[in-house]
Amino acid sequence: MSTSTTNIESVLHEERIFAAPPEFSEKAHIRSMRELEELREEAERDPEGFWARMAEELHWFKRWDTVLKWEPPHAEWFGGGEINISYNCLDRHLTSWRRNKAAIIWEGEPGEQRTLTYQQLHRDVCRFANVLKRAGVQKGDRVALYMPLIPELAIAMLACARIGATHSVVFGGFSADALKDRINDAGCKVVVTADGAFRRGTEVRLKPAVDEALKHTPTIEACIVVRRTGSNVRMQLGRDHWWHEWMEAAASDCAPEELPSEHPLFILHTSGTTGKPKGILHTTAGYLLYAHLTTKWVFDLKEEDIYWCTADIGWVTGHTYVVYGPLSNGATVLMYEGAPNYPEPDRFWQMIERHRVNIFYTAPTAIRAFIKWGEQWPRKHDLSSLRLLGTVGEPINPEAWMWYRDAIGGGRCPIVDTWWQTETGGIMISPLPGATPTKPGSATKPLPGIAADIMTKTGEPVADNLGGYLVIKRPWPAMLRTIWGDDERYREAYWSEIEGVYFAGDGARRDADGYYWIMGRVDDVINVSGHRLGTMEIESALVSHEAVAEAAVVGRPDELKGQAIVAFVTLEGTRQASDELKGALRQHVAKEIGALAKPDDIRFTDALPKTRSGKIMRRLLREIAASGAVAGDTTTLEDFSVLERLRAQEEE
Ligand code: WTA
Repeated sequence: MSTSTTNIESVLHEERIFAAPPEFSEKAHIRSMRELEELREEAERDPEGFWARMAEELHWFKRWDTVLKWEPPHAEWFGGGEINISYNCLDRHLTSWRRNKAAIIWEGEPGEQRTLTYQQLHRDVCRFANVLKRAGVQKGDRVALYMPLIPELAIAMLACARIGATHSVVFGGFSADALKDRINDAGCKVVVTADGAFRRGTEVRLKPAVDEALKHTPTIEACIVVRRTGSNVRMQLGRDHWWHEWMEAAASDCAPEELPSEHPLFILHTSGTTGKPKGILHTTAGYLLYAHLTTKWVFDLKEEDIYWCTADIGWVTGHTYVVYGPLSNGATVLMYEGAPNYPEPDRFWQMIERHRVNIFYTAPTAIRAFIKWGEQWPRKHDLSSLRLLGTVGEPINPEAWMWYRDAIGGGRCPIVDTWWQTETGGIMISPLPGATPTKPGSATKPLPGIAADIMTKTGEPVADNLGGYLVIKRPWPAMLRTIWGDDERYREAYWSEIEGVYFAGDGARRDADGYYWIMGRVDDVINVSGHRLGTMEIESALVSHEAVAEAAVVGRPDELKGQAIVAFVTLEGTRQASDELKGALRQHVAKEIGALAKPDDIRFTDALPKTRSGKIMRRLLREIAASGAVAGDTTTLEDFSVLERLRAQEEE
């Protein structure tokens, strides 16, 4: 058990280490730790020179004058430069054989397939750019995209980027109310949507939600509707237009706007488990550069790869690693509209086999669901095309990491555990698969050019293996530029918690090898008898017990200890809840971490409340643990019935 003089105590110990497989390293873009360290050193010696050298990989209409102007907390990257993202993602691939390469291979949930080559995608983007113009959109206007995961969403994003409109994608699972708030926050002029989407075999209707939202959105002038499901929708004369009708009438050429580097590219509201959503603003050149480079480095993209990131485009992972990063690299991207367990829990494995997917990037919450559904599902399929696996979104507990490696990766594929945030725009801490030895549960080291560190609340450095706050000490090209319409909150939330550095809001520790271990959000930290514990570490210990599928740990006020530990636990398929099992789990945690971390209370449940992006809503669990009721905001909750069941259980 480690002790700590800082604020967050780290108790997870993991000894396993996996070297990059030599046959992978041989062909990788970055083939060894030596090459990686050289890049890091170059970036440390001369950060601006390093980014300038990297920026040569993009197509510029006009070269930049200054690499970085930094007036904390405001950064200007590549000032004086002019560039267009859709040009970089499309036009520049049309001058070679790549024009006939598949850019997007898409599967709808019911099973239909579509393939768009770079040339076809370019044509559709140009046409839709003309449609946007016809709808009155001009450079600098905001456009809301509330759509299913269909190629038209990527087309709409790239069309906005082509004419210099700023997109604000709102995840199709959000309610009319959430959509309305986001449209109003960004002051959108046009909204693009669809009649509906398919999810788990039924239609999620989108257009009626838009109709509801548009009753209270004074800035919206037009609504463009993709026909996806064919269900009946109401079209308001003069305001609503069919995508296919306007596309048919649109010209298929549209010159890309030559935009200043700092032109606003997109606003994305963070779904956050606490507080009002923040409209994170990303701009053009720095974001594209970082998306481009990190995709190439971390996923080691090769010309012939089929690359699949399962994230919905409604989240930042979909922006950077479904659309902009891969397309800028000229990759072939697989997209899938629906649920992982439709029609059966092997849909993903079936698709990997069908399309011979090489690179697969998903989230720990999905991996834990796969574990729960059982290994028989992946075993039914030939997954031998896979060569690299990735994860993002939450800390991945070592047992889930090992399962991923063995059951999906056949023990052969490196795993890249990628730490980053909506705010960072791209991956910040991650292994490079041909270079970095990996340890299950660690995102390993910051990428070249990223000055990460761990500090106390007062900005003091933290010694190895002691937990602290994860910070970034130097601006990076894809950093958020502000919170849309609220620069003061930008300053406060990110640059004031600890003087002079970017505050990520995550707890982490660094081990003696310089590896980072993310311990979760700092508001997910429990203080037991003066020891602060990352809830994720206790969860990892619980999940490492064979009976447990998933666990969420929260603190409840306790007179004696400050906080008591409450664990919400879902069990593996056939396991039954019992008092013996409770006792066994408490002993198991005591054994894994120490008596200090033993849950005071274990509650078995058949599901955990989650946000629509799959994050466990610990805030709700905290409320249930503390008072048995939920008073707070539940608008981002995916499944309300989970909450009802947890409450009912409380009353028993
Ligand atoms: C968490 C998603 C541990 C973290 C790209 C961060 C992670 C928040 C990891 C951002 C990881 C993301 N290991 N934790 N590999 N990746 N997180 O904005 O708490 O949806 O602050 O961006 O997810 O979530 P967001």
